[in-house]
Amino acid sequence: MLFWTTIYTHKIMFTLANVHNFVEQQSIKAYKIYQLLYHSDKILFKNCSQMSNAKKSVYVTRPDVAAVGLDILKKECDVTVWSKCEPVPREELLKQIVGKSALFCALTEKIDKEVITRAGPQLKCIATISVGYEHIDLETCKSLGIRVGYTPDVLTDATAELTMALLLATSRRLFEANKDVYNGGWKPWSPNYMCGQGLKSCQVGLFGFGRIGQEIAARLVPFKPKRITYTTRNKQADAATKVGASYATFEEMISESDIIIVCCALTPETKEKFDKSAFTKMKKNCIFINTARGGIVDQNALYEVLKQKQIMAAGLDVTTPEPLPLDDPLLKLNNVVILPHIGSADIETRNQMSQITALNIVAALKDERMIAEV
Ligand code: DGY
Repeated sequence: MLFWTTIYTHKIMFTLANVHNFVEQQSIKAYKIYQLLYHSDKILFKNCSQMSNAKKSVYVTRPDVAAVGLDILKKECDVTVWSKCEPVPREELLKQIVGKSALFCALTEKIDKEVITRAGPQLKCIATISVGYEHIDLETCKSLGIRVGYTPDVLTDATAELTMALLLATSRRLFEANKDVYNGGWKPWSPNYMCGQGLKSCQVGLFGFGRIGQEIAARLVPFKPKRITYTTRNKQADAATKVGASYATFEEMISESDIIIVCCALTPETKEKFDKSAFTKMKKNCIFINTARGGIVDQNALYEVLKQKQIMAAGLDVTTPEPLPLDDPLLKLNNVVILPHIGSADIETRNQMSQITALNIVAALKDERMIAEV
């Protein structure tokens, strides 16, 4: 009897040790198996049929997203919303995500492996109220079968419009001129006062030619630029023909353009693509516009070329970090216009972004097609 008890105890201990090793060494694999078991109805969890009828729980990281989105979610799900109109602190996010089936987040939250795995195996969807999704760890999501929603298309026009506004404000020195009205700098008319650069006869280079880049090109045409070029990984012949744009390599674009507009996604390939070497090849009259992501630019290098007047001016709707600290040297320069990341900030667009983010979640929780899935 003692003999068999000892053998049996050893067997159990051996099995437990194996399980422990397995979990330790292959945490993601183990997590996936757990997730699979969790979702396989009626096999392991007695209450599973009740669970699938219960409202799924969703965490929303902002209380101030348009109500239309929150209303959709509240009808279908059990919704918990972060209470303050500011990014949710990481510790709070890590606490709140536990047990949730979906996350409604913004680009201000880093949704990395820690957040994703902290949620638990029931997490089915992460939906961001943005077109950019570089703040979400897609690899982990993919490996765990978590669907990711985003909001392309609806913000294309708003962002293209803001890009044009920023371009004109920078090229025609609107903010500098406006300040003079208030500080006494406005003197009787004089021929050289506040002269900027008109768009007519300029060569404009677009870095990125997706939805937003194409819409910027369409808006540039009435300003009669000499030439519009685009630089992307894959040539977009049809879209380019529509707006009369032609392909240029990165080297051609940076050295030939009078205006450069960055409108691509932030990826490992585009990270700090605009560095010292790129800026020093630009024309002296070049105007550099970025409405995409601050991370695409080496900001110190940009500061130096602006300060030395090696390029004419820059207009930035995005910076690193955001918000830009009040003592940032860029804020001391006259030849830079900085906006606080407002590319998609028109009321209708933000309403649609909220709505689509909510609909993406509802669809994912029902295993249906999302409006926009990464
Ligand atoms: C986005 O959607 O990625 C913008 O930067 C903010 O609207």
